[in-house]
Amino acid sequence: LVGVSITGSGSAQLSRALSNDQLSQIVDTSDEWIASRTGIRQRYIAETQQSLSHIAAEAGRQALAMAKLPPESVQLIILATSTPDDLFGSACQVQTLLGATHAVAFDLTAACSGFVFSLVTAAQYLRQGVYQNVLVIGADILSRWTDWSDRRTCILFGDGAGAVVMQASDVDGLLGFELCSDGRLNGCLKLSYQSEPLEIVEGIQGQQGTFQPITMNGREVYKFAVSRVPEVLEKALFRAGKTPRDIDWLVLHQANQRILDAVAERLEVPSERVVSNMACHGNTSAASIPLALDEVVRAGKVRPSDLIATAGFGAGLTWGAAIFEW
Ligand code: ACO
Repeated sequence: LVGVSITGSGSAQLSRALSNDQLSQIVDTSDEWIASRTGIRQRYIAETQQSLSHIAAEAGRQALAMAKLPPESVQLIILATSTPDDLFGSACQVQTLLGATHAVAFDLTAACSGFVFSLVTAAQYLRQGVYQNVLVIGADILSRWTDWSDRRTCILFGDGAGAVVMQASDVDGLLGFELCSDGRLNGCLKLSYQSEPLEIVEGIQGQQGTFQPITMNGREVYKFAVSRVPEVLEKALFRAGKTPRDIDWLVLHQANQRILDAVAERLEVPSERVVSNMACHGNTSAASIPLALDEVVRAGKVRPSDLIATAGFGAGLTWGAAIFEW
Protein backbone atom coordinates (compact mmCIF):
# COMPACT_ATOMS: atom_id res chain seq x y z
CA LEU A 1 0.00 0.00 0.00
CA VAL A 2 1.91 3.04 -1.15
CA GLY A 3 -0.95 5.27 -2.22
CA VAL A 4 -2.92 7.85 -0.26
CA SER A 5 -6.63 7.95 0.27
CA ILE A 6 -8.70 10.54 2.14
CA THR A 7 -11.24 8.58 4.12
CA GLY A 8 -12.91 11.11 6.39
CA SER A 9 -13.38 14.79 7.13
CA GLY A 10 -14.58 16.72 10.12
CA SER A 11 -14.90 20.14 11.64
CA ALA A 12 -15.55 21.78 14.98
CA GLN A 13 -18.90 23.48 15.42
CA LEU A 14 -18.42 26.89 17.02
CA SER A 15 -21.61 28.55 18.15
CA ARG A 16 -20.80 32.21 18.85
CA ALA A 17 -21.10 34.27 15.66
CA LEU A 18 -19.93 37.88 15.34
CA SER A 19 -21.77 39.78 12.60
CA ASN A 20 -20.50 42.66 10.47
CA ASP A 21 -23.05 44.91 12.16
CA GLN A 22 -21.64 44.01 15.56
CA LEU A 23 -18.13 44.80 14.29
CA SER A 24 -19.29 48.19 13.09
CA GLN A 25 -19.96 49.01 16.76
CA ILE A 26 -16.24 48.82 17.55
CA VAL A 27 -14.55 50.07 14.34
CA ASP A 28 -15.57 52.52 11.61
CA THR A 29 -16.95 50.05 9.06
CA SER A 30 -20.25 48.68 7.76
CA ASP A 31 -21.83 45.41 6.67
CA GLU A 32 -22.03 46.84 3.15
CA TRP A 33 -18.27 47.67 3.02
CA ILE A 34 -17.18 44.30 4.41
CA ALA A 35 -19.58 42.18 2.36
CA SER A 36 -18.88 43.94 -0.93
CA ARG A 37 -15.08 43.93 -0.49
CA THR A 38 -14.70 40.43 1.00
CA GLY A 39 -17.93 38.42 0.85
CA ILE A 40 -17.78 37.98 4.64
CA ARG A 41 -21.00 38.51 6.67
CA GLN A 42 -20.09 36.92 9.97
CA ARG A 43 -17.37 34.88 11.62
CA TYR A 44 -17.25 32.57 14.65
CA ILE A 45 -15.32 33.47 17.79
CA ALA A 46 -14.15 30.64 20.05
CA GLU A 47 -15.59 30.76 23.57
CA THR A 48 -13.26 31.71 26.39
CA GLN A 49 -12.98 28.12 27.62
CA GLN A 50 -12.38 26.71 24.11
CA SER A 51 -8.67 26.27 23.51
CA LEU A 52 -7.07 25.72 20.13
CA SER A 53 -6.38 22.13 21.19
CA HIS A 54 -10.06 21.59 22.05
CA ILE A 55 -11.45 22.75 18.73
CA ALA A 56 -8.71 20.91 16.82
CA ALA A 57 -9.51 17.70 18.71
CA GLU A 58 -13.23 18.14 18.01
CA ALA A 59 -12.55 18.38 14.25
CA GLY A 60 -10.23 15.39 14.47
CA ARG A 61 -12.83 13.32 16.36
CA GLN A 62 -15.42 13.97 13.65
CA ALA A 63 -13.02 13.03 10.86
CA LEU A 64 -12.05 9.79 12.64
CA ALA A 65 -15.73 8.93 13.12
CA MET A 66 -16.39 9.41 9.39
CA ALA A 67 -13.38 7.24 8.52
CA LYS A 68 -14.50 4.68 11.17
CA LEU A 69 -10.96 4.74 12.52
CA PRO A 70 -10.44 4.33 16.28
CA PRO A 71 -8.10 6.95 17.80
CA GLU A 72 -5.68 4.24 18.97
CA SER A 73 -5.06 3.33 15.31
CA VAL A 74 -3.81 6.83 14.39
CA GLN A 75 -0.03 6.77 13.93
CA LEU A 76 0.63 10.42 13.07
CA ILE A 77 -1.15 13.70 13.83
CA ILE A 78 -0.08 16.85 12.02
CA LEU A 79 -1.64 20.01 13.41
CA ALA A 80 -1.43 22.98 11.05
CA THR A 81 -1.76 26.12 13.13
CA SER A 82 -0.27 29.54 13.66
CA THR A 83 -2.12 30.10 16.92
CA PRO A 84 -1.17 27.23 19.24
CA ASP A 85 -2.14 27.35 22.92
CA ASP A 86 1.54 26.85 23.61
CA LEU A 87 4.44 27.91 21.40
CA PHE A 88 6.13 24.57 22.10
CA GLY A 89 3.24 23.10 20.12
CA SER A 90 -0.36 21.99 20.65
CA ALA A 91 -0.40 18.72 18.68
CA CYS A 92 0.46 16.58 21.72
CA GLN A 93 -2.45 18.10 23.62
CA VAL A 94 -4.71 17.18 20.72
CA GLN A 95 -3.28 13.65 20.75
CA THR A 96 -4.16 13.33 24.44
CA LEU A 97 -7.65 14.79 24.05
CA LEU A 98 -8.35 12.30 21.26
CA GLY A 99 -6.88 9.32 23.09
CA ALA A 100 -4.61 8.70 20.11
CA THR A 101 -2.13 6.98 22.39
CA HIS A 102 -0.01 5.43 19.64
CA ALA A 103 0.38 8.54 17.48
CA VAL A 104 3.35 10.83 17.13
CA ALA A 105 2.12 14.40 16.92
CA PHE A 106 3.63 17.69 15.85
CA ASP A 107 2.64 21.18 14.77
CA LEU A 108 3.33 22.55 11.33
CA THR A 109 3.31 26.30 10.77
CA ALA A 110 2.68 27.69 7.32
CA ALA A 111 -0.10 30.20 8.09
CA CYS A 112 -3.06 29.91 5.72
CA SER A 113 -1.14 27.39 3.58
CA GLY A 114 -0.66 25.17 6.61
CA PHE A 115 -3.34 22.64 5.74
CA VAL A 116 -2.07 22.04 2.19
CA PHE A 117 1.53 21.83 3.43
CA SER A 118 0.44 19.33 6.11
CA LEU A 119 -1.59 17.23 3.69
CA VAL A 120 1.41 16.93 1.38
CA THR A 121 3.75 16.18 4.32
CA ALA A 122 1.41 13.45 5.57
CA ALA A 123 1.25 11.94 2.09
CA GLN A 124 5.02 11.46 2.05
CA TYR A 125 4.93 9.30 5.21
CA LEU A 126 2.08 7.26 3.74
CA ARG A 127 3.76 6.81 0.38
CA GLN A 128 6.97 5.67 2.05
CA GLY A 129 5.01 3.05 3.94
CA VAL A 130 6.09 4.55 7.29
CA TYR A 131 2.53 5.11 8.54
CA GLN A 132 -0.86 3.87 7.36
CA ASN A 133 -3.27 6.08 9.35
CA VAL A 134 -2.73 9.81 9.63
CA LEU A 135 -4.86 12.64 10.96
CA VAL A 136 -4.27 16.10 9.48
CA ILE A 137 -5.91 19.02 11.29
CA GLY A 138 -6.01 22.69 10.33
CA ALA A 139 -7.03 24.93 13.23
CA ASP A 140 -6.64 28.57 14.14
CA ILE A 141 -8.04 30.99 16.71
CA LEU A 142 -6.97 34.23 15.09
CA SER A 143 -9.45 36.23 17.16
CA ARG A 144 -6.92 36.00 20.02
CA TRP A 145 -4.19 37.57 17.84
CA THR A 146 -6.23 40.23 16.06
CA ASP A 147 -5.96 43.97 16.60
CA TRP A 148 -9.64 44.73 17.27
CA SER A 149 -9.02 48.44 16.70
CA ASP A 150 -7.69 47.91 13.14
CA ARG A 151 -10.60 47.89 10.70
CA ARG A 152 -8.35 46.75 7.84
CA THR A 153 -7.71 43.37 9.46
CA CYS A 154 -10.22 42.67 12.24
CA ILE A 155 -13.09 42.30 9.77
CA LEU A 156 -11.41 39.40 7.98
CA PHE A 157 -10.64 36.68 10.47
CA GLY A 158 -12.64 34.03 12.28
CA ASP A 159 -11.91 30.95 14.38
CA GLY A 160 -12.27 27.35 13.27
CA ALA A 161 -10.91 23.85 12.94
CA GLY A 162 -11.20 21.20 10.23
CA ALA A 163 -9.56 17.83 9.70
CA VAL A 164 -9.10 14.92 7.32
CA VAL A 165 -8.06 11.32 7.82
CA MET A 166 -5.51 10.07 5.30
CA GLN A 167 -4.87 6.35 4.96
CA ALA A 168 -2.55 4.12 2.98
CA SER A 169 -4.24 2.71 -0.06
CA ASP A 170 -3.40 0.63 -3.12
CA VAL A 171 -4.66 3.44 -5.36
CA ASP A 172 -3.00 6.86 -4.95
CA GLY A 173 -5.63 9.58 -4.62
CA LEU A 174 -3.13 12.43 -4.32
CA LEU A 175 -2.49 13.07 -7.98
CA GLY A 176 -0.30 16.16 -7.87
CA PHE A 177 0.94 18.99 -5.69
CA GLU A 178 3.15 22.06 -5.72
CA LEU A 179 4.38 24.02 -2.68
CA CYS A 180 6.04 27.47 -2.75
CA SER A 181 7.53 30.06 -0.40
CA ASP A 182 8.92 33.56 -0.81
CA GLY A 183 10.32 35.18 2.32
CA ARG A 184 11.06 38.40 0.46
CA LEU A 185 7.38 39.23 0.79
CA ASN A 186 7.30 38.38 4.51
CA GLY A 187 6.48 41.95 5.56
CA CYS A 188 3.05 41.82 3.85
CA LEU A 189 1.48 39.74 6.59
CA LYS A 190 2.93 39.51 10.08
CA LEU A 191 2.15 38.17 13.52
CA SER A 192 5.53 39.01 14.85
CA TYR A 193 7.43 38.84 18.09
CA GLN A 194 8.77 42.20 19.14
CA SER A 195 11.32 42.46 21.86
CA GLU A 196 13.50 44.87 23.76
CA PRO A 197 17.01 44.34 25.07
CA LEU A 198 17.15 42.86 28.55
CA GLU A 199 20.32 42.51 30.56
CA ILE A 200 20.31 38.95 31.91
CA VAL A 201 23.53 39.38 33.91
CA GLU A 202 26.13 42.06 33.58
CA GLY A 203 27.66 41.90 30.11
CA ILE A 204 25.09 39.51 28.64
CA GLN A 205 22.12 41.05 26.92
CA GLY A 206 19.16 39.03 25.79
CA GLN A 207 15.79 40.12 24.48
CA GLN A 208 12.30 39.86 25.94
CA GLY A 209 9.04 40.90 24.46
CA THR A 210 5.67 39.82 23.27
CA PHE A 211 3.68 39.19 20.12
CA GLN A 212 2.19 42.08 18.21
CA PRO A 213 -1.27 41.60 16.69
CA ILE A 214 -1.64 40.84 12.97
CA THR A 215 -0.54 43.49 10.45
CA MET A 216 -1.26 43.21 6.75
CA ASN A 217 -0.73 45.03 3.50
CA GLY A 218 -4.09 44.02 2.01
CA ARG A 219 -3.42 45.24 -1.50
CA GLU A 220 -0.11 43.37 -1.80
CA VAL A 221 -1.65 40.17 -0.41
CA TYR A 222 -4.52 40.50 -2.87
CA LYS A 223 -2.18 40.97 -5.85
CA PHE A 224 -0.03 38.06 -4.69
CA ALA A 225 -3.03 35.75 -4.31
CA VAL A 226 -4.70 36.44 -7.64
CA SER A 227 -1.47 35.92 -9.56
CA ARG A 228 0.17 33.04 -7.66
CA VAL A 229 -2.83 30.86 -6.84
CA PRO A 230 -3.94 30.18 -10.44
CA GLU A 231 -0.29 29.56 -11.34
CA VAL A 232 0.30 27.03 -8.57
CA LEU A 233 -2.98 25.26 -9.34
CA GLU A 234 -2.03 24.97 -12.99
CA LYS A 235 1.33 23.44 -12.06
CA ALA A 236 -0.23 20.94 -9.65
CA LEU A 237 -2.93 20.05 -12.20
CA PHE A 238 -0.26 19.52 -14.84
CA ARG A 239 1.62 17.15 -12.53
CA ALA A 240 -1.65 15.32 -11.94
CA GLY A 241 -2.19 14.96 -15.68
CA LYS A 242 -5.37 17.03 -15.38
CA THR A 243 -6.68 20.37 -16.62
CA PRO A 244 -8.95 22.93 -14.91
CA ARG A 245 -11.87 21.40 -16.84
CA ASP A 246 -11.48 18.20 -14.84
CA ILE A 247 -12.02 19.96 -11.50
CA ASP A 248 -15.22 18.90 -9.73
CA TRP A 249 -14.59 21.01 -6.60
CA LEU A 250 -12.27 23.99 -6.27
CA VAL A 251 -11.62 24.34 -2.54
CA LEU A 252 -9.44 27.40 -2.01
CA HIS A 253 -8.32 29.04 1.18
CA GLN A 254 -11.32 31.19 2.13
CA ALA A 255 -9.66 34.61 2.36
CA ASN A 256 -11.82 36.78 0.20
CA GLN A 257 -14.67 36.11 -2.27
CA ARG A 258 -13.05 38.39 -4.82
CA ILE A 259 -9.89 36.24 -4.75
CA LEU A 260 -11.99 33.09 -5.25
CA ASP A 261 -13.85 34.68 -8.16
CA ALA A 262 -10.63 35.91 -9.81
CA VAL A 263 -8.94 32.48 -9.53
CA ALA A 264 -12.03 30.67 -10.82
CA GLU A 265 -12.36 33.08 -13.71
CA ARG A 266 -8.71 32.72 -14.69
CA LEU A 267 -8.98 28.91 -14.67
CA GLU A 268 -12.47 29.01 -16.22
CA VAL A 269 -13.97 26.93 -13.41
CA PRO A 270 -17.75 27.50 -13.24
CA SER A 271 -18.93 29.10 -10.00
CA GLU A 272 -21.08 26.10 -9.00
CA ARG A 273 -17.86 24.09 -8.60
CA VAL A 274 -16.22 26.69 -6.37
CA VAL A 275 -16.73 26.01 -2.66
CA SER A 276 -17.29 29.17 -0.65
CA ASN A 277 -18.27 29.44 2.99
CA MET A 278 -16.55 32.67 4.00
CA ALA A 279 -19.87 34.54 4.24
CA CYS A 280 -20.46 32.43 7.34
CA HIS A 281 -16.93 31.78 8.65
CA GLY A 282 -14.66 34.61 7.46
CA ASN A 283 -11.01 33.72 7.00
CA THR A 284 -10.15 30.90 9.41
CA SER A 285 -6.53 30.57 8.26
CA ALA A 286 -5.27 26.95 8.35
CA ALA A 287 -8.79 25.72 9.12
CA SER A 288 -10.50 27.20 6.10
CA ILE A 289 -9.83 24.48 3.52
CA PRO A 290 -10.76 21.41 5.62
CA LEU A 291 -13.77 23.32 6.99
CA ALA A 292 -15.02 24.13 3.49
CA LEU A 293 -14.29 20.60 2.30
CA ASP A 294 -16.13 19.04 5.24
CA GLU A 295 -19.21 21.16 4.54
CA VAL A 296 -19.58 19.91 0.95
CA VAL A 297 -18.74 16.35 1.95
CA ARG A 298 -21.35 16.30 4.74
CA ALA A 299 -23.90 17.91 2.43
CA GLY A 300 -23.51 14.79 0.26
CA LYS A 301 -22.31 16.81 -2.72
CA VAL A 302 -18.92 15.14 -3.16
CA ARG A 303 -19.13 11.78 -4.91
CA PRO A 304 -16.52 9.02 -4.95
CA SER A 305 -13.70 9.81 -7.43
CA ASP A 306 -14.61 13.50 -7.67
CA LEU A 307 -11.52 15.59 -8.45
CA ILE A 308 -10.77 18.16 -5.76
CA ALA A 309 -8.34 20.99 -6.44
CA THR A 310 -7.25 22.82 -3.35
CA ALA A 311 -4.90 25.76 -2.82
CA GLY A 312 -3.73 27.62 0.26
CA PHE A 313 -1.92 30.95 0.42
CA GLY A 314 -0.85 33.23 3.18
CA ALA A 315 1.84 34.56 5.44
CA GLY A 316 5.44 33.63 4.87
CA LEU A 317 4.58 34.19 2.15
CA THR A 318 3.61 30.61 1.40
CA TRP A 319 1.31 29.09 -1.16
CA GLY A 320 0.60 25.62 -2.46
CA ALA A 321 -1.89 23.40 -4.25
CA ALA A 322 -2.88 19.75 -4.00
CA ILE A 323 -5.02 17.80 -6.44
CA PHE A 324 -6.72 14.70 -5.13
CA GLU A 325 -9.57 12.32 -5.77
CA TRP A 326 -12.15 11.88 -3.04
N1 ACO B 1 -14.35 49.45 6.57
C1 ACO B 1 -14.42 50.62 5.92
N2 ACO B 1 -13.36 51.15 5.27
C2 ACO B 1 -12.21 50.45 5.28
C3 ACO B 1 -12.09 49.23 5.94
C4 ACO B 1 -13.22 48.72 6.61
N3 ACO B 1 -13.22 47.55 7.28
N4 ACO B 1 -10.84 48.76 5.77
C5 ACO B 1 -10.19 49.66 5.03
N5 ACO B 1 -11.01 50.68 4.74
C6 ACO B 1 -10.73 51.89 3.98
C7 ACO B 1 -9.26 52.23 4.02
O1 ACO B 1 -8.96 52.98 5.18
C8 ACO B 1 -9.10 53.03 2.77
O2 ACO B 1 -9.57 54.33 2.99
P1 ACO B 1 -8.71 55.61 2.49
O3 ACO B 1 -8.65 55.45 1.00
O4 ACO B 1 -9.52 56.75 2.99
O5 ACO B 1 -7.37 55.43 3.14
C9 ACO B 1 -10.08 52.37 1.79
O6 ACO B 1 -11.01 51.64 2.61
C10 ACO B 1 -9.41 51.41 0.85
O7 ACO B 1 -8.53 50.60 1.63
P2 ACO B 1 -7.74 49.39 0.99
O8 ACO B 1 -6.95 48.70 2.06
O9 ACO B 1 -7.01 49.87 -0.20
O10 ACO B 1 -8.97 48.48 0.57
P3 ACO B 1 -9.07 47.34 -0.49
O11 ACO B 1 -10.03 47.69 -1.53
O12 ACO B 1 -7.71 46.85 -0.89
O13 ACO B 1 -9.74 46.18 0.39
C11 ACO B 1 -9.09 44.23 1.59
C12 ACO B 1 -9.12 45.74 1.58
C13 ACO B 1 -10.51 43.72 1.61
C14 ACO B 1 -8.37 43.78 2.85
C15 ACO B 1 -8.37 43.75 0.33
O14 ACO B 1 -7.14 44.42 0.16
C16 ACO B 1 -8.10 42.29 0.38
O15 ACO B 1 -9.01 41.50 0.37
N6 ACO B 1 -6.83 41.90 0.37
C17 ACO B 1 -6.48 40.52 0.54
C18 ACO B 1 -6.33 40.32 1.99
C19 ACO B 1 -6.44 38.90 2.36
O16 ACO B 1 -7.13 38.12 1.74
N7 ACO B 1 -5.74 38.58 3.43
C20 ACO B 1 -5.72 37.31 3.95
C21 ACO B 1 -4.96 36.37 3.06
S1 ACO B 1 -3.70 35.57 3.84
C22 ACO B 1 -4.37 34.95 5.15
O17 ACO B 1 -5.41 34.39 5.03
C23 ACO B 1 -3.73 35.13 6.47
